Formats: sequence, C-alpha cells, structure tokens
Amino acid sequence: MAKSIDISDVNIYYGDFLAVQGVNMTVKARQVTAFIGPSGCGKSTVLRTLNRMHEVIPGARVEGKVVVDGQSLYDPSVDPVAVRRQIGMVFQRPNPFPTMSIYDNVLAGNKLNAKKMKKDEADSIVEKSLKGANLWNEVKDRLAKPGMGLSGGQQQRLCIARAIAVEPQVLLMDEPCSALDPISTSAIEDLIHELKSDYTIVIVTHNMQQAARVSDETGFFNLKATGEPGQLVEFNSTTKMFSNPDEPATEAYISGRFG
Ligand SMILES: Nc1ncnc2c1ncn2[C@@H]1O[C@H](COP(=O)(O)OP(=O)(O)O)[C@@H](O)[C@H]1O
Ligand SMILES: [Mg+2]
Repeated sequence: MAKSIDISDVNIYYGDFLAVQGVNMTVKARQVTAFIGPSGCGKSTVLRTLNRMHEVIPGARVEGKVVVDGQSLYDPSVDPVAVRRQIGMVFQRPNPFPTMSIYDNVLAGNKLNAKKMKKDEADSIVEKSLKGANLWNEVKDRLAKPGMGLSGGQQQRLCIARAIAVEPQVLLMDEPCSALDPISTSAIEDLIHELKSDYTIVIVTHNMQQAARVSDETGFFNLKATGEPGQLVEFNSTTKMFSNPDEPATEAYISGRFG
C-alpha cells in the first residue's frame, strides 16, 4: 500500500512568482521523511505539490515530475481528486468538521468519495481508523459526541484517523504538532512511528528535535535571499544530517546560527 515518491526537476509557481526551484529527491516508501528549513523557504509549497493541492490556488502551477510508484501525478489523464484521496494530508491546526460527531468525522473522507456503506462496514472503518490513530480507547464511548469537544491533541489524532480511513498510500503532514502541547506532541510522534510500517510519511516541521526524533531522512530547504526561490539544499539520512551534514548551510541551520 505504501508508495515511494520520485520528485524530479520540480519548479513551483504562484502566478509569475517562482517560489521553489529545482527540487530533486526520492521519498522512500514506509519511511518518515522530514522537511526542515526557515520560514518561507517553500516546505509547505513542496508538500502540497505531492498531492496536487498546490494547484487549488488560482494561478499556481508546477513544472517537472512527481511520480508515485510509477504513476506520474501531473499526467493529463490523472484525476487530481483521486490523487488527493491516495495521498492524505494533515494540517497545522486540527480541523475536524465542527458540526460532525467523532464518528462522522472519521468517515468524512469516505462519504466525500460517495461510497454508500453499510452500517457494520462503516462501524469497522471507524474503529480501525481510530485504533490506527491511537484514539479509540479515549473516544469509543462517545462516538456520537461532537469532534470539536475533544482536546487539541485528540482533535489532531481524529484528523489523522480521518486521513487514514480512506486507506491512502501516503500521509503528508504540515507541522502537525505546532498547535499542540508537549504531551500531545509526543502522542503524535509515537503515532508517526507506528504508522510508518503501513504508510509513506512526509512531515514538515520547524522543530529540528522533532525531525531528528521522528524521521529517517531529512530534506533541508533554504533560500539564498528574500524574493529568491527556495531550494532543496541537502537531502540525507537524518542521522547524517544532524551529525555530519554535507553542506555548510545545513550545518549553520541545524546548529542554530540562522532561521
Ligand atoms: N497562496 C500563496 N500565494 C502566493 N505566494 C505564496 C502562497 N503560499 C506561499 N507563498 C509564498 O511561497 C513561498 C514559500 O512559502 P511556504 O511554502 O509557505 O514556506 P514554508 O512552508 O517553508 O514556510 C513564500 O515566499 C510564500 O510567501
Ligand atoms: Mg509552511
């Protein structure tokens, strides 16, 4: 189920503005890949090109190739809605649907996919997804209660349950812990460790300790100057990145000299 992602010569634009230039990397299946780098260097922009969310913004476009397990995402025959289903996304702020119960939140993606499900099938998807997101024990007796009634950390795990309910191949996470307290952050990090046996995971984080804790490989993005496009400066195993990086700019960033 988990898939690798090959990114070649990717340039990403917002209208005429070249936001990110010349990205080449391979995201391995069943690994956690972290994107780090200073604010504005294009981490979220690159992440959104991996499930065709970028082009939702008017005037936004992508050049180059993104290939997921042999399938070129930007091929004209590819349906972007199907891509977004296979490649799920978890955002910075937990965003459960405010009017929906915990149960219906988990199934929201499945319902958008217009599947007419039987009750016992729906029940089993809800249970499996909440277990997968390490939330089942906390919510199993209150599934009909609103998703918004959960704590921030629980809401984020609910969003992860919603993302995995559609059985995606890849999970993209954009600073999923930035709105959470340390205990909830640690719960999400444990969950990321568990999920990588089934999913390919890409996580953007501004927290370098988090990148070091959760990821197998790390990409460091940077920009030469304001207004210049962001670039992938170095892509390496996380261990090497944080002990003996190849690029002086990576060394400067991880040792806290800028950003
Ligand atoms: N919706 C948008 N419209 C125009 N420019 C954008 C938009 N989103 C991001 N950008 C620009 O693209 C560049 C990269 O931004 P972003 O990917 O958000 O960086 P990061 O996630 O690393 O902080 C920045 O110059 C930012 O201002
Ligand atoms: Mg960002």
